[in-house]
Amino acid sequence: MDMKISPSILASDYANLESELKKISASDLIHVDVMDGHFVPNISIGAPVTAAIKKVCDIPFDVHLMISDPLFYAEDFAKAGADIICFHVESDSDTKKTIEKILSLGKKAALAVKPKTEIDTVFPYLDRLSMVLVMTVEPGFGGQSFMEEVMQKITKLREMGYKGDIEVDGGVNPETIKIAAKAGANVFVAGSAVFKSENPSDTIALLRENAKESFTY
Ligand code: DX5
Ligand code: ZN
Repeated sequence: MDMKISPSILASDYANLESELKKISASDLIHVDVMDGHFVPNISIGAPVTAAIKKVCDIPFDVHLMISDPLFYAEDFAKAGADIICFHVESDSDTKKTIEKILSLGKKAALAVKPKTEIDTVFPYLDRLSMVLVMTVEPGFGGQSFMEEVMQKITKLREMGYKGDIEVDGGVNPETIKIAAKAGANVFVAGSAVFKSENPSDTIALLRENAKESFTY
């Protein structure tokens, strides 16, 4: 299975997004964290900034909506250039309608679960999803510690035969990525680990290598 590294620009320098994106040209996806100050306490960036950076970057955008009403905003992010639109099963929007909306916009749909949410909540939608995001921190902030206790959700998905992408997000670094890959994850968000490193390109290569070595499914 392909191991994909998706650096989160939440940890980048927002004053220099174009040059920050150049530093991660070796990545497979670009993780865009969208926070509305309601679903999570912070406010990050929205569709206009996403559209602006899309113009200077060819790598597919993995947009993580940490917002209360993804159904309402899905179209804005599709127009802004999102390739994968990921929203939370805990949001206020109807899950099925939101997935169908994203698919009707010609985008890939992904569903995210917070650490305390049971993975069973995504089961009814698996055939319509290209990816499941298992949060390895409480959403809302970068730079938190990886929660190993959620790994059982990933293993559960793989053991039931789920062949789609499984993404982990939060506290991923060259060590914790091994734990996540061993459990069955194959898409890895890394904010601080990539942007706070001396050489983001080398870090991306190391992350990918460590994931490949540990992936067991
Ligand atoms: C957390 C965000 C993450 C965050 C990850 O709410 O969804 O994508 O940027 O940051 P690190 O890799 O620093 O934990
Ligand atoms: Zn994220």
